[in-house]
Parts: sequence; structure tokens; C-alpha cells
Amino acid sequence: MSRAGLDKNPREVAAMFDGVARRYDLTNTVLSFGQDRRWRNVTRRVLAPKRDEKVLDLAAGSGVSTVEFARSGAYCVAADFSLGMLSVGKARGVPMVAADALRLPFADGAFDAVTISFGLRNLVDTGAGLREMLRVVRPGGRLVVCEFSTPTWQPFRTVYMNYLMRALPPIARAVSSNPDAYVYLAESIRSWPDQRKLGELIAESGWTDVTWRNLTSGAVAVHSALKPR
Ligand SMILES: C[S@@+](CC[C@H](N)C(=O)[O-])C[C@H]1O[C@@H](n2cnc3c(N)ncnc32)[C@H](O)[C@@H]1O
Repeated sequence: MSRAGLDKNPREVAAMFDGVARRYDLTNTVLSFGQDRRWRNVTRRVLAPKRDEKVLDLAAGSGVSTVEFARSGAYCVAADFSLGMLSVGKARGVPMVAADALRLPFADGAFDAVTISFGLRNLVDTGAGLREMLRVVRPGGRLVVCEFSTPTWQPFRTVYMNYLMRALPPIARAVSSNPDAYVYLAESIRSWPDQRKLGELIAESGWTDVTWRNLTSGAVAVHSALKPR
């Protein structure tokens, strides 16, 4: 089975997610001890979609994140470049588009809000992805990024990093349809910028009013920002 490297070659990333698709949702729930549901719920509340809004859920995978946003009544579109993930999510009944996050097939300003959960870390060029999201959102529109981050309390950070590198791969071997992908997961989390650095990167990409909220002591952070009017 395949895994991507930390250069995040798009072909390898797409193939890796094709390989995890079949048991993706279950593996997430097991590896996060059920916290994934809470993270998604908080992300929806931060995004606060309104009924008449159009929302793009980028790197939506199997659509598990999109379904959560659609509970608000907003029109939510899932986009992803792994056909394996999209086909697993077909039965979820949300609109799905096969698309590369760096070259989206949408007009400028087409959405009121764009969101990406556990996807930004996998893009080959984070800044280019953030700028492409800026392009497809209307002026004054919102960005919400839910992503793994750096635990703020040192003792928990030590335990968590040990969990990622030692315990997570064997658990993934028992549950996932592509366990090697979870070694990539651990490595990519370790090399991902912390809350402040990601906030700076979002601002440098043209977004304004950047803030974030830590979840599970900072193991996950939800960043939000606005497109300047
Ligand atoms: C960890 S999954 C997240 C899925 C979902 N958002 C969730 O919360 O569970 C990451 C997703 O990012 C997608 N992805 C990575 N790079 C992408 C790109 N350049 N364009 C579109 N999707 C991409 C992968 O195919 C994968 O489905």
C-alpha cells in the first residue's frame, strides 16, 4: 500500500487517500478516541453557516465534514481530488466535485465561506491553497481551517508526540485499509507549523482578522479569518 512523503507529491497524496478511503471514518474515530466528532461540531459552530449561504468544504474526502456543515441548512459542496474518498462518500447525499485545491473549478467569489478540515496539511503548497480559497470566496466571506496543531501544555505535548510516533501506527495496522498512511499522518503532524505560525501564513496569504481556538489542549486548532472587503 502507498503512503506519501513529506514533499506531499499530489499524485502520491491522492493515491494514499484512495487507499485509506474504505475505512477512513472508522479509523479516525478510533485513533482520536471519538474526539473527531467534537472537533467537527466545534468547526461547524465557528463557521456558523446560514441557511441561504453557499459553503465550499475543501479536501472533504468522504464528505464526513461536509455532512456536519450541511446540518446548518446551508448549501455545502464537498471538493476533493481522491476519487476513492469521493466514491466512499457518495451515499452521504451531499454535492461532490472532483477538484484540485490548487486549481479550483469555481468562479471568483462563488462562495460565502470556505472551510478545510484536516486537509490543508496535505497540500503540496499551503500558501497557494490559501490564496486559491481566497479567490473563490466573496469579499467579506469567511475561512475556517480545522487542523492538527501543537499541544500547548508541555507534559501533554510529550505524551501526545509519543502517541503519534509509537502507539498510533500499530493501532492503525489493526483498523485501517492502508496503515502506512498513518505513519505519514504522524510525520506530517510533527512537521506542521504551530498555531501562531499557521495564523501568520493565513494572514500572509491575503486573509484578515485571523484568530484561532485550541481543541483538546491544542492537539487540534480551528483557525478563522475573513476576506478583506
Ligand atoms: C485527512 S482527509 C480529510 C477529509 C475530511 N475533510 C475530514 O475532515 O475527514 C484529507 C483529504 O485531503 C485531500 N486532498 C489533499 N490534497 C488535495 C488537493 N490538492 N486537492 C483536493 N483534495 C486534496 C485528500 O484527498 C483527502 O481526502
